[in-house]
Amino acid sequence: MPPDDAGLARGVWTVVVAAGSGTRFGGPKQFAMVGARRVLDWSLDTARAASDGVVVVLPPDRAAAEGGVAGGSTRSESVRRGLRHVPDDAEIICVHDAARPFASLHLFRAVVDAVRGGADAAVPALPVADTIKQVDGEGRVVATPDRASLVAVQTPQAFRADVLRRAHAGSPEGTDDAALVEASGGTVRTVPGERINRKLTEPDDLEWARVAAGTEI
Ligand code: CTP
Ligand code: MG
Repeated sequence: MPPDDAGLARGVWTVVVAAGSGTRFGGPKQFAMVGARRVLDWSLDTARAASDGVVVVLPPDRAAAEGGVAGGSTRSESVRRGLRHVPDDAEIICVHDAARPFASLHLFRAVVDAVRGGADAAVPALPVADTIKQVDGEGRVVATPDRASLVAVQTPQAFRADVLRRAHAGSPEGTDDAALVEASGGTVRTVPGERINRKLTEPDDLEWARVAAGTEI
């Protein structure tokens, strides 16, 4: 953490989850190279600049070698395993997907500031460009939610530490941590997300990332 950022990061810990298997990508995308660094390293470098400390959660066979914590079979379980290694005196905990290498330091600060400002949780959000349909098991459309009320959310997500720990009590499952806080009655605020902060999911996302990083290698 650079000295200038010490005040801003005080009391902030970040859990970077990197224990997925990358089924849609075709392999563990967090270890793919983007320029001179792995996707994971891009994510870790920014998380470290934004935080007093970082816990990295990795596939069990990689954890020891990389100085991380062994993850679980779901994202929520991986977050919980990371949380156990966050010191008790952390005030704000961010959770960040390793698969989002381009989240900016500014974005970490924005979600942390929103929590310092009184929210239980804060998430980056972008307007939705496509019309979203709700479908049933057979693919039949059952509803078209008003697009103006929809946003797509990203990580880093920031939480009051006690709120996040409580939201994970009982080992619930969700596709993000804010959903668990919502379910336990917490307030979740949004801050403007970043278009560059795309989650690498499919193989062509890596091609995009290499171009976005200015490397094209
Ligand atoms: N993740 C994790 N532990 C899991 C599952 C996911 O730490 N058991 C992490 C991933 O490494 C990733 C983030 O959670 O950084 C978001 O998950 P996702 O994009 O779905 O990655 P994968 O689960 O690896 O991909 P897929 O769903 O295609 O298998
Ligand atoms: Mg997944």
